[in-house]
Amino acid sequence: MLRVWQVLCSLCLLLKLSQCDQPTNSSTFLSASSSSNSSTNSSTNPQILDVAIRTQRDVSRPIPIDQLTVAGLSLNSLFEVGGYTQESLGNLSSLLYNGTQAIMVDLYWNEFTSVWQLCPAPFPQNMTYNMNSNVNVTWENRTYSCEYGFTTDNVMDALASYIQSTNTDFQANFMHLLYNLKSIHYEKSNRTTELENIYLPRSKTVVVGNSSLIDTVAPISSYLFTPDVLNSFRARGSANYSSYQNFYSRSNFTMPSLETILLSEYKRLLVNIVSDDTVQSRRSYEISDQDRRILFFEDTLPIDAMNTTTADNYCNQVFSYRNTVEDFDNQTLSTHFRYAIDNDNEPFTTQSLRRYVRCGLSPIFNSTSYQVPATNQSISQNKEIVKDYIPQLFWSWAPGQPLVAENSTANRSSSGNVAYKCVYMTPDGWEIGNCYTEHQIACKNLTAPNDWYIPIHERRTYFDVDRNDCPPGFNFSLPRSSIEMLALHNAIQQQGATFPVWIDLNDITVETCFVSGGPYAECPYQRTVTTTKFVKMIAPSSIVALVILILIFLEKTLRKDHLQANRKKYWKKKISEHYSKHEYEGVPS
Ligand SMILES: *[C@@H]1O[C@H](CO)[C@@H](O)[C@H](O)[C@H]1NC(C)=O
Ligand SMILES: *[C@@H]1O[C@H](CO)[C@@H](O)[C@H](O)[C@H]1NC(C)=O
Ligand SMILES: *[C@@H]1O[C@H](CO)[C@@H](O)[C@H](O)[C@H]1NC(C)=O
Ligand SMILES: *[C@@H]1O[C@H](CO)[C@@H](O)[C@H](O)[C@H]1NC(C)=O
Ligand SMILES: *[C@@H]1O[C@H](CO)[C@@H](O)[C@H](O)[C@H]1NC(C)=O
Ligand SMILES: *[C@@H]1O[C@H](CO)[C@@H](O)[C@H](O)[C@H]1NC(C)=O
Ligand SMILES: *[C@@H]1O[C@H](CO)[C@@H](O)[C@H](O)[C@H]1NC(C)=O
Ligand SMILES: *[C@@H]1O[C@H](CO)[C@@H](O)[C@H](O)[C@H]1NC(C)=O
Ligand SMILES: *[C@@H]1O[C@H](CO)[C@@H](O)[C@H](O)[C@H]1NC(C)=O
Ligand SMILES: *[C@@H]1O[C@H](CO)[C@@H](O)[C@H](O)[C@H]1NC(C)=O
Ligand SMILES: *[C@@H]1O[C@H](CO)[C@@H](O)[C@H](O)[C@H]1NC(C)=O
Ligand SMILES: *[C@@H]1O[C@H](CO)[C@@H](O)[C@H](O)[C@H]1NC(C)=O
Repeated sequence: MLRVWQVLCSLCLLLKLSQCDQPTNSSTFLSASSSSNSSTNSSTNPQILDVAIRTQRDVSRPIPIDQLTVAGLSLNSLFEVGGYTQESLGNLSSLLYNGTQAIMVDLYWNEFTSVWQLCPAPFPQNMTYNMNSNVNVTWENRTYSCEYGFTTDNVMDALASYIQSTNTDFQANFMHLLYNLKSIHYEKSNRTTELENIYLPRSKTVVVGNSSLIDTVAPISSYLFTPDVLNSFRARGSANYSSYQNFYSRSNFTMPSLETILLSEYKRLLVNIVSDDTVQSRRSYEISDQDRRILFFEDTLPIDAMNTTTADNYCNQVFSYRNTVEDFDNQTLSTHFRYAIDNDNEPFTTQSLRRYVRCGLSPIFNSTSYQVPATNQSISQNKEIVKDYIPQLFWSWAPGQPLVAENSTANRSSSGNVAYKCVYMTPDGWEIGNCYTEHQIACKNLTAPNDWYIPIHERRTYFDVDRNDCPPGFNFSLPRSSIEMLALHNAIQQQGATFPVWIDLNDITVETCFVSGGPYAECPYQRTVTTTKFVKMIAPSSIVALVILILIFLEKTLRKDHLQANRKKYWKKKISEHYSKHEYEGVPS
């Protein structure tokens, strides 16, 4: 397989086609699975991170988007350190690729120029600027370093290019863009004329920025999940819901599931106005009907933006729920986007972050500095904190998981069979376990996702779990949201079960592609990865296309053989045993 790629790449290089590196990188997912000797056992390994992110997303597909947790950061915490400049955005792309799914931005309505700007101070208009020049500007006794031509368009362009480059079933995720609206306000007073002389623009043409909210999101407008899209979703009704989604559709304020948004509406992000601190005056911004059709405001979408104090109280309440499924149901059915936003006085710690994520809050990093637990040093928001904080951001996986060990599969007769390819629940979250060991199993009520039952007298290997092992009305399953996870955690403790407990998740068929639906559930990406990327490559030139088509054919045949040789070898026997014993309805998540 590798050789075919090498041929393809040298071909691309010869013809100076830039598309080459894309398919190469997207194939790392499959090539990693075929070279099982590649060691991937570091918890900060980007590949592990990718797998963890993708698994959590896939598992959550049937869940309404208001119940999903995302992690993100405020751009202002970057700007406060590096200035309100394009340069400060430098890290944004890499942060987006590493799982940042929420971006919070403070937008300032400049009453002198009537535009939305990122810089918290107005620019004196009686001088001429170079678009890229950094200037020190002062407003209300604070001085900011601002780039004159730096606007929301720069932020949106970074977002748009990230979204475009990840717009495949394999990589697409759903993002939140959060706006805090503020004013650069001046009162009518005897200083008015003085201020206006400095800050009023000489002519409209020199003003940089957008004069309406809707214009600020224009570069990403085709990807937006808007109130209009929501209304047409609601108008269609719940006729095509699965029984699983029927539970969530009992909510008074139904929201589409992640799957619906990404794979039938093809939307990638929503814009939420988290706070509106604009000062009312003759010169203030009027929110238009157009804005209301594109952006969500407090009255069209219920959100909770919590500070660390209110988030702590909220989590204490959620963690105190005991043995009542109703409490968890109430939580999951009350529609809310819940964010925990820290600040310089009370930055997240690794512990508080973990608590917030597990009780269903989306953490937004807004402090300019954080403690590194190991050294107790305070450092600014940058790569260093990623190592300690990112592993805490999953409600599903335990920190550092899924850990793929070098000896993940072996057929050693001495020590029995070993296959570290199945997932169980520990007090810290999900971990990879040996499918051949016996543990208790998690059974979920078919119509009530927060209702869990653990048959404590039964222990099974993952392969031996049978549909009759769960009582009628329940099946072997897995938690799909943070609250379902808490409900399971609670049930394990209340029913006297012992950790670890098997959940229905494994990567037996294709390594790092975690699926539910029994030991031989198929990886939904096997085909996507091989065909769509090739289609992209075929575009450049028809001559190359012909050569590539031949190579595709070769590659596919080789890969098929390879898959068969490498993976089916281990599982063929086990799976055919399984087939003969059970009849599964394998629905890959
Ligand atoms: C593709 O992967 C190679 C190494 O694996 C890396 O150097 C390169 O930057 C990657 N390209 C992209 C577009 O991610
Ligand atoms: C701009 O206006 C301020 C206040 O009137 C004045 O101090 C400053 O010199 C002016 N700058 C230019 C370039 O005219
Ligand atoms: C802005 O102020 C900082 C610190 O006071 C100074 O180092 C910098 O040179 C100033 N920049 C400009 C463009 O004047
Ligand atoms: C700015 O500082 C001056 C003098 O210290 C003070 O009188 C004034 O109230 C301050 N203005 C603001 C907006 O804080
Ligand atoms: C502005 O008005 C205040 C009272 O409102 C007065 O005390 C002050 O002297 C006036 N300043 C100027 C520059 O006229
Ligand atoms: C949901 O609707 C029901 C019936 O209309 C009502 O009794 C209940 O109070 C509503 N719940 C919320 C949270 O609005
Ligand atoms: C947190 O928010 C609550 C309610 O909005 C407020 O009363 C409290 O003062 C805030 N706490 C901090 C530390 O900002
Ligand atoms: C549901 O939760 C809300 C707030 O989270 C609470 O006010 C309400 O009393 C709860 N309802 C029930 C029936 O527990
Ligand atoms: C973000 O942090 C800054 C600095 O600590 C703080 O002033 C601001 O209120 C925070 N934003 C939110 C939405 O909490
Ligand atoms: C983000 O991911 C890239 C690889 O995709 C990695 O090179 C980079 O260091 C990561 N950035 C951070 C801040 O972790
Ligand atoms: C791998 O092998 C070592 C030594 O045989 C063993 O301790 C370990 O549990 C095995 N499995 C994993 C997942 O590391
Ligand atoms: C499953 O949950 C539903 C709704 O709460 C409940 O009516 C039903 O009795 C539960 N099924 C079983 C087998 O307990």
